Amino acid sequence: MDNRPIGVFDSGVGGLTVVKQVMKLLPHEKIIYFGDTARLPYGSKSKEAVTRFSKQIVRFLLTRDVKAVVAACNTVSSNSLDELRKDFDVPIFGVVMAGARDAVSSTKNNRVGIIGTSATVRSGAYERLILSLNPDISVYQKACPLFVPLVEEGFTDNEIVRLIVKEYMSGFLSTGIDSIVLGCTHYPLLKKCIGETAGSDILILDPAASAVSEVKEYLEKEGGLSGDTSFKEHVFYLSDITEKFDMLCKMALNKTFVPKAVDIEKY
Ligand code: DGL
Repeated sequence: MDNRPIGVFDSGVGGLTVVKQVMKLLPHEKIIYFGDTARLPYGSKSKEAVTRFSKQIVRFLLTRDVKAVVAACNTVSSNSLDELRKDFDVPIFGVVMAGARDAVSSTKNNRVGIIGTSATVRSGAYERLILSLNPDISVYQKACPLFVPLVEEGFTDNEIVRLIVKEYMSGFLSTGIDSIVLGCTHYPLLKKCIGETAGSDILILDPAASAVSEVKEYLEKEGGLSGDTSFKEHVFYLSDITEKFDMLCKMALNKTFVPKAVDIEKY
């Protein structure tokens, strides 16, 4: 039994879609969330920058005595996970392996689509992992760099979103894919529009639940689950307190939290 909190981080609010699953699947765990709102987006940054930022965040989370860290960010998971695991003793989980597994078990025609940030697509991580699980699968990737600013602006279901989704999806859908992985933790907030554009024959996969199940299995196996069943005061840290946090938090979690500011460059 280990009552210490779990650290979860993302470049901004996208990781809240993973927090939602932690709350659901690991209800007795206390969460320390960090959103790097001052330096978002990560998806347009270099691998080196994303890795440097992520290391600072893990260092910060360790000062909060976390027992495990979830990189609730595909950009970090696909570019920096190996380096993070090399540098830190704490167990660090990503979201990309879960997405790859979901894709492999979902596809019936062995044609899978991945949508994500430019940095995630450039890393090729999804394709590598999917092919390592099933070399017969064809992987089609599409970077959708405008999706993150839309979500951070609170635009999830309006005419502008529909137009942009259509623009990104047009050529992509003609590849014959039968499953699309939402390879960015912001994208589940656009799932309705993406699903409507893709049509009912294409499965839209959000890896968050599978990613959190991996964490749960690990904690169960290691005897690391929290034994404290009392109400948990989750703590939300941001590198810049933005006025939109309240609205975005409600959108992702159906409730709000008062965020605390952290000067992440100190770590
Ligand atoms: N939500 C993040 C991801 O899953 C990154 C968004 C960004 O900062 O570009 O990739």
